[in-house]
Amino acid sequence: MNCQICLRSIKKSKYPEYHDACLRDFFGSVKVNPYLDFSPATMSVEALAKVTKRMSISGVQQKLSVRVEDKKVLPTDRNGEFILKPTPSDTGFEMSSENEHLSMLICKHMGVESVPFGLFRLPNGTKAYMIKRFDKGASNRIHCEDFCQIMNINKTPDGSFKYESSYEEVGRKMLECTGGNKAVVYEFMKRLIINFLIQNGDYHLKNISLQVLNPAPEMLFDGMTPNYDSLNTRLYMKHEDVFALDLLANKEFTAEYEKLGFYTNADFYELGKRIGINRNSIDEIISAIRIKEDEIRDLIDASYLSFSLKETYSSLLFKRMDILKS
Ligand SMILES: Nc1ncnc2c1ncn2[C@@H]1O[C@H](COP(=O)(O)OP(=O)(O)O)[C@@H](O)[C@H]1O
Ligand SMILES: [Mg+2]
Ligand SMILES: [Zn+2]
Repeated sequence: MNCQICLRSIKKSKYPEYHDACLRDFFGSVKVNPYLDFSPATMSVEALAKVTKRMSISGVQQKLSVRVEDKKVLPTDRNGEFILKPTPSDTGFEMSSENEHLSMLICKHMGVESVPFGLFRLPNGTKAYMIKRFDKGASNRIHCEDFCQIMNINKTPDGSFKYESSYEEVGRKMLECTGGNKAVVYEFMKRLIINFLIQNGDYHLKNISLQVLNPAPEMLFDGMTPNYDSLNTRLYMKHEDVFALDLLANKEFTAEYEKLGFYTNADFYELGKRIGINRNSIDEIISAIRIKEDEIRDLIDASYLSFSLKETYSSLLFKRMDILKS
């Protein structure tokens, strides 16, 4: 059996689905029961509203704030320690929990920082994706803001506000509010290319956040938050745009894009040029991805997606790999 946290095989452990070390890393102890005994799907609307009211979290996918009490994982309306995202039922997002788990793990193997996440069994036998919160330190709250907040983009009722910008503008704003910290923008470029690779077409303003780890008087952001919400959305939306935001500002496209009709490395070079990341740095990001081809194949194989979703996932991802290689 493969571990529902790291996807490596397990020889001997307390629970057949997890390495002891992986569970310890996730919950801080192997004594916490990883089998959830409440059903998000059957919780009443009022109960759900109550537990999620305090979480500034919304979206199509039903999410629950949970914490560990008495070695049990329970829904909570305060001091949540984890976010539970079950696969929504009957909405066409088949195995989205398994998809997010695999996708987040591929990102992690590509060197993207993350907090512990894994798959956990619900009473109905399905697996739900759960991630530890990164905005809580041991004793303090870590200040985080997404790019809708940072750019002061006001909410429209239909949710379209989170698509109203470009990665170029995000990059420029990132330089501005980190005091010109190029390492942060480099990290952003890396995540953008990795989300391109895994075919995440929903990398929008609310899925890009900065944090303040070391509060200074100027209150500058010092880095991106750990990764979240990376999944292969093309599995469900065959005709979705490649990117959730325009790549370049002012509806501009590169000559290469105009010629080919699809994005290639040339587009990342152009974006890089505009946000202070040189071509060599982008080549470095791409080579680091390319040498992990076998590792990615093994992760897809070891994942909890169905056989047919694994096949589709793999063919979608390697199409993008071919673009990055050319
Ligand atoms: N691990 C986490 N710790 C703290 N906040 C998080 C974490 N994961 C997500 N969030 C916050 O919750 C919001 C919703 O979570 P997300 O995974 O993006 O769900 P959705 O699929 O509904 O967009 C995010 O925009 C982010 O602000
Ligand atoms: Mg999101
Ligand atoms: Zn493990």
